[in-house]
Amino acid sequence: MSHIAQSEGPRVTVPLIQQWKGEGRRLVMTTAYDAVAARIADPVVDMILVGDSVGNVCLGFDNTLPVSMAMMNHHLEAVTRTRPRALVVADMPYLSFHLGPEETIRNAGGFMQRGAGAVKLEGGAKRIDMVRALVDCEIPVMGHLGLTPQSVNVMGGFKVQGRAAADALRLLDDAHALQEAGCFALVLEGIPSELAARATETLRIPTIGIGAGPHCSGQVLVFHDLLGLIQGHKAKFVRTYVDGFAQLQDGMARYAEDVRSGAFPGQAESYALPQALQAAVAAWTPKS
Ligand code: KIV
Repeated sequence: MSHIAQSEGPRVTVPLIQQWKGEGRRLVMTTAYDAVAARIADPVVDMILVGDSVGNVCLGFDNTLPVSMAMMNHHLEAVTRTRPRALVVADMPYLSFHLGPEETIRNAGGFMQRGAGAVKLEGGAKRIDMVRALVDCEIPVMGHLGLTPQSVNVMGGFKVQGRAAADALRLLDDAHALQEAGCFALVLEGIPSELAARATETLRIPTIGIGAGPHCSGQVLVFHDLLGLIQGHKAKFVRTYVDGFAQLQDGMARYAEDVRSGAFPGQAESYALPQALQAAVAAWTPKS
């Protein structure tokens, strides 16, 4: 049975996300960094995140820190050219929202001009002024707390956050501060389920979990993780729905085999010369 019909419906907007949270509808988000991924995801998800995870997932970096605004704009445009029905959230990369409100607004505004419906930025209390500045410019902001990958050097690696009392309570304070600053939703990444549950039940805005247990208002997984396209270490929170890497590699191997054996291309994949030209072409010889 196809599952594709499940998501047909209106274009997803920030007010619709808020309405769905009120109705208790669980929200579905994944990443997309290009037009193919956007077209695969769009019929079935509510939100597409053009994440700075493009840096480690697709561009070969060890983490997200080298990802620039130019790179993000390039990938965002590839996604928005497909005119997705889902809400497109553009991720603000490292240093794009740290240097003051003016630069933050210019960067986020550029995302909106390229077709994003909202932006996402990492961090809590320290980022409140930037969140307020964006909201004042009519830019919907999604917050991101917990295991925030841009803080990898401060965290000393990609480690679950909020396990110490002070950290857990600070995260709840930060979540509420972001809500009051105007965030329309919050990503909660890499934190204990109970902490995510407490944030979710005390906030008005939806929480989108990744490695934050089952009690969030919705979930986000990286496209390449959920489709099994990444080899090697798999984080505990990832569930793989297709063995994508092996299946695609199998397709590639069959193609190579067919080329080497002469089985590809066949008549079906070839163009025929008009009958009237065949004799002339066959009789032609090189000039020298
Ligand atoms: O960039 C990204 O993919 C993210 C998600 C992991 C939430 O920020």
